[in-house]
Order: sequence, then C-alpha cells, then structure tokens
Amino acid sequence: MTSKSVTAPELTAMKARGEKISMLTAYDYPSGRLADEAGVDVVLVGDSLGMVVLGYETTLQVTMEDIVRHTAAVSRGVRRALIAADMPFLSYQINAEEALRNAGRLVVEAGAQAVKLEGGERTAEAITKIVEAGIPVIGHLGMTPQSVNVFGGFKEQGKDEWQADRIRRDALVLQDAGVCCIVLEKIPPALAGEITKSLDIPTIGIGAGPDCDGQVLVMHDVIGLFDKFTPPFAKQYADLGQVMLDAFKAYNSEVKSGKFPGRG
Ligand code: KIV
Repeated sequence: MTSKSVTAPELTAMKARGEKISMLTAYDYPSGRLADEAGVDVVLVGDSLGMVVLGYETTLQVTMEDIVRHTAAVSRGVRRALIAADMPFLSYQINAEEALRNAGRLVVEAGAQAVKLEGGERTAEAITKIVEAGIPVIGHLGMTPQSVNVFGGFKEQGKDEWQADRIRRDALVLQDAGVCCIVLEKIPPALAGEITKSLDIPTIGIGAGPDCDGQVLVMHDVIGLFDKFTPPFAKQYADLGQVMLDAFKAYNSEVKSGKFPGRG
C-alpha cells in the first residue's frame, strides 16, 4: 500500500466531499494493472468472473479457489486502487464463523483489502463478524445475482413498494453492521437516489441511475468482450472483441500463408 492508496474509510470521505467513486471489475494481472493505471478507485474481483471469464451461465458455480486465484493475480497488478474480492455463493451463508474464515483467506492468501457479500439483514451477522475482525466489507443489494433462481432471472428489483421497503431497510441494517459502501444493482433510479441520501456511507450503482455516489461496471461489458448479452445499463467504451478477432485472423492467415515468421 502506498501513501496514495485508496482505503475503505477514504470512500466515505469521498462521499462527504461529493467526489464520485469509480469501481470496475478485473480478473487478472493485466486487467487489474490497467484499471489501476486508469485511476479507478476500487478494483473488484467480482464473481461475474464465472460468467465473463469462465463461461458459466450464472455466478453460482464460482468457488473460493477461483476467487483466491484471480484476486491474487489482480493484487499483483494494482498499486493505488482498493482491491475488493467478491465472496462466492455459499462461502458466507452457512454461518458467520465460516464467513470470517473465507473472508480471511481472501485477505491473507490473495491480497484483498475488502470483501463483498450479497444480501441485507440475512447477511448482517456475518458482516459484523468480518468487520470486527478488521476486514472492510462492501454490501450488495437489489438484483443480487447469487439469488437469480429466487428472482426467476436477472430481473430489476425494488419496483414493488414492499420490495423497495425491504431494500431501504436492508441498506440501513448494512450501514449499522459496518459496511464501507453498498453496491445497488438494478433498482429504480429514484429508489437508489433516496437510499443514497439516507446513508452516510457511499452507494455504488450498477443499473441504478445517476444519483448514487459512484458507479461500477463489469470490465468485459466496458471493453466489448462478453458475447452472450450486454445489460442495457452498461456502456461499452471499446470493442476489444473485434480488435482481438482481427488480430487472431491476421495471425492465422499469416501462419497459413507462411508470411509469419519472416526469414530475416
Ligand atoms: O460480480 C460482480 O462483478 C459484481 C458487480 C457487478 C457489482 O458483483
């Protein structure tokens, strides 16, 4: 950690200063290094890894071993950004002790400086235990992908008043449990804005409108490298899929024609 590193308390200070927080996922050494060099504040080794890197249909198959390995790779490339690691499905739901043991592995074995857990009240006990042990925690509410089978798909949450109420309550519970910020995924922008105003800690939106304290996107959506679908709220800033395809085609054709490698 350098003196200019982003820390968990710094995120709340940024909110207080009205400074927007940028978070981006990364999954390996080069993507971590580049996100960091670009000035991103938080690099998240998301369990979206399962879908955009490992090719699963959901995030549910991602294991602790996957997140440890990929977080360690990202850590080797990041100097300034806060390195956050997602806790995979069933690594924190069974009981608070197991949650702490797994969160500890992400810090000790992989170099994470914060961990992210999905869910509100039901996760509060595990969060408190992890925070009390000295590990910053990021909360995650709304369309939490590990509950995809309960939601019946990756559907917007918080549209009905009872759902919105639960998300409002959960946000306060998470703040009380000691999280350093909360990701709000795929909820109505007005609800996200209201929750953001009600909290001292920052909210980081994804598909939750412009009134959150920061934004997060999945790297593969940003660079056009995920072919299965692009969420409507994501913004693609480059088409690396096409760039890579063109390069691979050029290489393939030069090998076939004997142009590569040259003789000189
Ligand atoms: O897994 C992930 O990448 C995430 C972000 C989309 C917040 O949880």
